[in-house]
Amino acid sequence: MNNNALKQILFLPIYKYKQDIINKINDENINVIIIIGETGCGKTTQVPKIIYENCSLENKMICITQPRRIAAISISERVSEEMNRRIGDLIGYSVRFKEKMSKKTKIKYVTDGMLIRECIIDRNLSKYKYIILDEIHERSIHTDILMMICKDLIINKKRKDLKLIIMSATLNPKKYMDYFNTNCLLKIEGRKYPVKVYNIEEDNNNNLINNNDSYYDYYDLISKYIDRCLNCILQIILSDKEENKEGDILVFLPGQEDIEDLQELLLNKKEEIKNELPGKKIEFMVLPLFGSLPSNQQMKIFRPIKNKFGKNIRKIILSTNIAETSLTIKNIKFVIDSGFFKKRKFYPKLNIDTLKIEPISKNSALQRSGRTGRESPGNCYRLYTKEEYNNFDENTEPEIKRINLRNTSLQLLSIGYNNLNNIDFIDKPPKENFNNAYEDLISLGALDKEENHKITELGKKMSILPIDPIYSIILINSLNDEYTEVFEDIVSIISVLQSDNIFYTPNSKKEIIEKLREKFIDPNSDHLTLRNIFKEYKNNKNKEEFCKENYLNDKALQKSMEIYQQIIGYLKKIKINEYKKDEEKEIKDKIEQIDRYLNGLKNLGTDNNEIKNKLIKECLITGYFNNISKYSGDNFFSTIKGNQLCKIHPTSVLIKNPKLGKQYGYLIFNEMIVTSKKYLKCCTLITSQQVEKYISKNRK
Ligand code: CDP
Ligand code: MG
Repeated sequence: MNNNALKQILFLPIYKYKQDIINKINDENINVIIIIGETGCGKTTQVPKIIYENCSLENKMICITQPRRIAAISISERVSEEMNRRIGDLIGYSVRFKEKMSKKTKIKYVTDGMLIRECIIDRNLSKYKYIILDEIHERSIHTDILMMICKDLIINKKRKDLKLIIMSATLNPKKYMDYFNTNCLLKIEGRKYPVKVYNIEEDNNNNLINNNDSYYDYYDLISKYIDRCLNCILQIILSDKEENKEGDILVFLPGQEDIEDLQELLLNKKEEIKNELPGKKIEFMVLPLFGSLPSNQQMKIFRPIKNKFGKNIRKIILSTNIAETSLTIKNIKFVIDSGFFKKRKFYPKLNIDTLKIEPISKNSALQRSGRTGRESPGNCYRLYTKEEYNNFDENTEPEIKRINLRNTSLQLLSIGYNNLNNIDFIDKPPKENFNNAYEDLISLGALDKEENHKITELGKKMSILPIDPIYSIILINSLNDEYTEVFEDIVSIISVLQSDNIFYTPNSKKEIIEKLREKFIDPNSDHLTLRNIFKEYKNNKNKEEFCKENYLNDKALQKSMEIYQQIIGYLKKIKINEYKKDEEKEIKDKIEQIDRYLNGLKNLGTDNNEIKNKLIKECLITGYFNNISKYSGDNFFSTIKGNQLCKIHPTSVLIKNPKLGKQYGYLIFNEMIVTSKKYLKCCTLITSQQVEKYISKNRK
């Protein structure tokens, strides 16, 4: 980084408060400090540096949490650059399935989920002298849990020396000051550059958001906001005004599908413009950004793209709300906010996990606009009216109150929190959500019903795997001798499911693509179809070409590959732990044995082997039994838990052979999608004998 840029940093608003921060941190009577400051004032990048350079570490580390991987990675890289160190040296990061750290690391950026995982091993977080919980206004479930854990460590004097710093851009601090019983608040005033905010005009035709949600037609809504985004982008890039000629554009959309649709529309437009307005020289590059994109693809948004004359090409970044907080993306001059996001909500009585497109909150709108104006003035186009904005909630409902708590509960129990309903969270989840989690975990064998819901040996093993307990139980079971033959298939299937959509199916080519993919399809199972694809991918030397040929998402499959390797690593740990209980001196031999076991299991049997497929299904049922549905006529299936009548999702292979559903009688599904109807996504047909076999096995 050049000298000028380094000097610029010292002009960030936070530096006016440097001494104040140091004094408060060094004050023995203060344990919790709340820092609030506008986006871009320098909290995330500078506070850890200020602490490192001015406060005593006592051989411990500084840990900064972020709700998202991309923020943890990109910010730690930025800070390394500012301090002229290599990443992984003084400054490191650790996110799920990836880390860059060394013995020298003192400033560690992590996702909030990773820090919770560290608690499972070291409940007192004794490696850290300073813990900074950042972007707490996002109220991710992990941040809420960490607030609770840190409060517990401080209030109950388990860590007298720990300093907790909580940071946020926009926040009403009272709630947090009460929760932590502190009045140590630092408000950083002043931001660097102005952002002009525009709303669309009031007009009845313009109202996309109707408060009564049964009114709006879901698909109509989606096509409308995509249209609006497209028009807004075109207005900027076709504008003759000098101020619109340069600067990148960041567009916020709810989900991956919207992003891919808009990407396709934009690329078509590019051709149109070329043909219809030959005089106009328009150069741009569309970059998608969503959670399931592999991180090397995500990181592309941070790099400039040059044309053959060495000039910057304008970037149009289409993102979900993963870019909503924390990130500084260079050269963003325009933010376009669709006003929507995908909200996850769990209904325990019905056992339904929904992912619905909903209006954002006022707070989110502010964060989105804050992605520009970081290095120069910016513009934010809000594609909703002022009136609609006024109807937005102040804040998004905290995640802890609305999501399935199965995973979280297992983690809390393995950290050592026993009575989940009595935990002192800043916002308590509904009681029935924890009760539902208890029920699930007991039926998965992770908790002991008789012994006051104590975590079992199996439960402890499950908590080692950083994935939903449904999948961890399947993976752990796949280590049993009876499943040896299908071990690799099971790990493959779960790895693909972790990385999300591997299919890339542009609407215009649907028919050709379906033909192409026929060779992979197992007509009665999406899971087995995924296995077939992953296997071909894994064995293929020219992976990129293979994906291109079959319209598969190379990035998603790359990510599955990474996850596959990691899962094998975790399973190895579990096996080793099992042996550790035996005799210490034999461990080395046994590790070698495990290596041979895990590496040696390649391509046993053939894939059309009925017996093998049956075994795979049986192993899957051991995790999915709360996701069993029974055929109930007319191509509908009814969920056993929750009794919901559902259709098969149009992306499932089962759609092509409706007769099979009736013939088998049951299916297991990976998730339920709720729009105006309920759909089961990623399904595998099973027989009543298989269901019964599982039940009788489980009763024993
Ligand atoms: O956390 P907060 O929103 O207060 O700001 P920050 O992430 O610490 O960033 C402070 C400033 O550093 C931004 O306004 C940018 O000017 C600069 N920055 C940058 O240029 N590139 C990055 N990758 C991160 C920050
Ligand atoms: Mg920040």
